[in-house]
Amino acid sequence: MSHATLSSLYPQHLDVLQARAAEALRRGGFDHLVVPSGTLHYQAFDDRDYPYAVNPQFKAWLPLTQTPGSWLVVTPGSKPKLVFLQPHDYWHVVPAAPSGYWVDQFEIVVIRTPEEAAQHLPDAARSAILGEPQSAIEGYAPNNPQPVIAYLEYHRAFKTAYEIEMMRQASRIGARAHRAAERAFRAGSSEFGIHLAYCQAAGQDANDLPYGNIVALNEHGAVLHYTHRDRLPPKPVRSFLIDAGASFGGYACDITRTYSAADDEFAAMIRAVDAAQLQLCDMVRAGTDYARIHLQAHLLLAGVLRDFGVLKISPEDALASGVSSAFFPHGVGHGIGLQVHDVAGFAESDTGGTLPKPDGHPYLRLTRTLAPGMVVTIEPGIYFIDMLLDELKAKGLGDAVDWARVEAFKPYGGIRIEDDVVCTDGEPLNLTREAFAADA
Ligand code: GLY
Ligand code: MN
Repeated sequence: MSHATLSSLYPQHLDVLQARAAEALRRGGFDHLVVPSGTLHYQAFDDRDYPYAVNPQFKAWLPLTQTPGSWLVVTPGSKPKLVFLQPHDYWHVVPAAPSGYWVDQFEIVVIRTPEEAAQHLPDAARSAILGEPQSAIEGYAPNNPQPVIAYLEYHRAFKTAYEIEMMRQASRIGARAHRAAERAFRAGSSEFGIHLAYCQAAGQDANDLPYGNIVALNEHGAVLHYTHRDRLPPKPVRSFLIDAGASFGGYACDITRTYSAADDEFAAMIRAVDAAQLQLCDMVRAGTDYARIHLQAHLLLAGVLRDFGVLKISPEDALASGVSSAFFPHGVGHGIGLQVHDVAGFAESDTGGTLPKPDGHPYLRLTRTLAPGMVVTIEPGIYFIDMLLDELKAKGLGDAVDWARVEAFKPYGGIRIEDDVVCTDGEPLNLTREAFAADA
């Protein structure tokens, strides 16, 4: 990377955010956007703090993720202001003095206590203050006006070139760590050991990663959000599903891969899901309704299940009857950016409204029509989950399935392949495949 690339792209990013802020404020009837970075939260009846999570409305402007107690002020027509808390403190690491490609674009005021921020903030009555209630200081409680938030969150789906570059860097880190995780799996490590190998290679731990690593061997792959991490490997080790991301300057990547220990039938099914996944990635094009990609995923995955003898009915019948949902029980993906599950997935417009999910698909997280700049995950999967298979039988749909084939695949858990894909004016840009290719 370069910092050179980021520094050349950042001014245009800021121009876009300034224009969005001006319009959001106009709609809300405010003069200033005021954004606290957030504060530390403490556990009940304890003096231990939870990992700090920066306000996404704050990190949209600045690559700062470890600066509690700071504030951002945006007034259309003026240079944005950063009120930067750098406390006198010998108990904790104090945030480093601001440096980097972004500092010249801000008026920066350093404060030493959280309360001092008030002296540097504009008239609260004229300000849209976006944050959580705990961020309030005397005279400045977040008011979170709906028109302002609806506008900013809707438009946040459209990434600037700077943001795509940030996500490219996150993807590079993720791909490198995924390679290390695969090596640890092939060497016989436990789920916990693979997780540590991943963190080591990423240079990130639980506080840095965009979500908790899912590291699943054998049947654990059938638990969609498996984060337990056994300390010993199972015997024998058959399969490995890893859903793990990385962060870069506040931006996330979200990557899933699945491996078989042997070159067996499960490995062939992984290749078939991979081919289907690439077809779905190719649908990430301007004007495509994302819900259509989800429904197409059902058809392709049901086709894989039929080809491997698991389903005895056509993909169309599997989708129409709900049989495919027993094997693919989550959405095909979601928007991604500052948050691994980006906001406004159902936003009908920049003033509000909700785009419905297709009937029978309650877990889809994105129903918007794709447009250039949107970044989405494409993560089809096939799982062998007892609870859902029992429900299928209870609904009288058991005849659609060859249960002996289910029993053959169940010990492998499941398959998910997930990439992060940018919608452009033309061909989709697959950040994940690009990152793996660069790390080959
Ligand atoms: N990577 C986990 C998820 O998308 O839910
Ligand atoms: Mn995901």
